[in-house]
Amino acid sequence: MENKHWWQQVVVYQVYPRSFKDSNGDGIGDLKGITSKLDYLKKLGIGAIWLSPVYKSPNDDNGYDIADYRGIMDEFGTMEDMDNLIAEAKKRNIRIVMDLVVNHTSDENKWFVEAKKGKDNPYRDYYVWADPAADGGAPNDLQSTFSGTAWQYDPASNQYYLHLFSKKMPDLNWQNPKVRHEVYDMMNYWIDKGIGGFRMDVIDLIGKVPNKKITGNGPRLHEYLQEMNKNTFHGKDLLTVGETWGATPEIAKLYSDPRRNELGMVFQFEHVGLDEQPGKSKWDLKPFDVEDLKRIFAKWQNELDNDGWNSLFWNNHDLPRIVSRWGNDKEYRVQSAKMLAILLHMLKGTPYIFQGEEIGMTNRTVKDISEVSDIESRNMYKERLAEGYDPKDLIHSINVKGRDNARTPMQWDESVNGGFSSGTPWIPVNPNYKQINVQDALVDNNSIFYTYQKLIQLRKDNPIIVWGDFELLKTDKEVFAYERHYQGESWLIVNNFSNNEHVLHLPDIKPGEMIIQNYDAEIKSLDNLTLKPWQSFVVKVVG
Ligand code: GLC
Ligand code: CA
Repeated sequence: MENKHWWQQVVVYQVYPRSFKDSNGDGIGDLKGITSKLDYLKKLGIGAIWLSPVYKSPNDDNGYDIADYRGIMDEFGTMEDMDNLIAEAKKRNIRIVMDLVVNHTSDENKWFVEAKKGKDNPYRDYYVWADPAADGGAPNDLQSTFSGTAWQYDPASNQYYLHLFSKKMPDLNWQNPKVRHEVYDMMNYWIDKGIGGFRMDVIDLIGKVPNKKITGNGPRLHEYLQEMNKNTFHGKDLLTVGETWGATPEIAKLYSDPRRNELGMVFQFEHVGLDEQPGKSKWDLKPFDVEDLKRIFAKWQNELDNDGWNSLFWNNHDLPRIVSRWGNDKEYRVQSAKMLAILLHMLKGTPYIFQGEEIGMTNRTVKDISEVSDIESRNMYKERLAEGYDPKDLIHSINVKGRDNARTPMQWDESVNGGFSSGTPWIPVNPNYKQINVQDALVDNNSIFYTYQKLIQLRKDNPIIVWGDFELLKTDKEVFAYERHYQGESWLIVNNFSNNEHVLHLPDIKPGEMIIQNYDAEIKSLDNLTLKPWQSFVVKVVG
């Protein structure tokens, strides 16, 4: 990579506004709440906030269904609050990255309200319409990510419209240049406000060709992104990250090779599928194997080395909490959360932290579907129940993989509702907030928070972390060890990814200065070193 950008050198923190901090007691997190916590984020050391959507929305999918891209959701505050958040963040050297959701809108967006009025409405072509099949049914068998058919019948015009998510989220028609230029204008409106960039929601779907049943990675996808780049953020050095579920390293390079003028980086999800049965859905579970993770991370590290850029993440608002998922959220919660942090933050790429990850927040458990808020989980439950699945198994899958796990309120302190809200939270706080909260983390020098803080500082101080090469080392299956190399210097990163002790045997590597660790160990030799459960350390290599 030729030019060095700020977004390659920072750590990004994702805020899910609904669940971060409620400033007025209505039980819903809001913009003023976020602004009130900027000093906390500054202390952590992050350089940017990815803000999940704050635009006007009827909240069928918590803001990912946008009714007005230039307005703020009433529950979250006003445009003045938004401008203030951008300005206050800037004072602390934190940039605000907006969530750009332009594969679809809400059905309450004025474009769709117009489009529905009839076939000759000027907005009709903003969306994807198709005539019924010969039998009067859906035009084809495209499925929605949120279960069931992706087509919704509109009786007034005797046509169907496409929705790859809920039926209240009609898909925009990117083949229409008017749609594309509306989106670019809107992006420029936000760029002019001084934001730090965009996270682009399911951007791999905008090139869809529905009548050919092509959704992801459509034929004109990269043409659109190059056009978007040219018309909006080109030359402005903004952070741009695409959410691209099906990306392979080859595809990721198409997006993020700087010579192609598309995006800065993408979120790839290959590791995210590791506890799912191949070819099935996220709900069909299988045991996780560390060997697979090593193989996949090593592949991405090496393949995107020179002509692309990685984003690094364990969590986001769609994923279960990593310490519950692949760590141990019981007796080794602290050690495993720190190990996961060290493993990820020593890799090459831009790390993302999801709110609460820095204090080791865990999944929450529900007993019954009535406790589930998320539309994706609820729709899946309904569909599979009808297909004859055992409700117990469905609730188990929801507890393991459901999106509500990430969306329980941020746990700030021991007070009522974990200090998130003085009212009734829109979704219940995880009952463990008395044991796991920010206030306790800040007074404990040994907390997970300070491991994250140190990792972020190390990244600022050591170019080897940002720019160094990656090399996977051969070790026991459950040990993930690698080296980074930069300008003659080498660092060794060792992670025991298990509840068991493992013997590390790397006799040729001489350990030097300790950089960071999650136990209080002195590493004198790597010749038959017994690693404690979840032990993790980073040392300089001598010689
Ligand atoms: C993305 C978002 C998810 C949302 C979906 C539809 O995957 O991360 O939360 O439901 O797109 O916008
Ligand atoms: Ca509020």
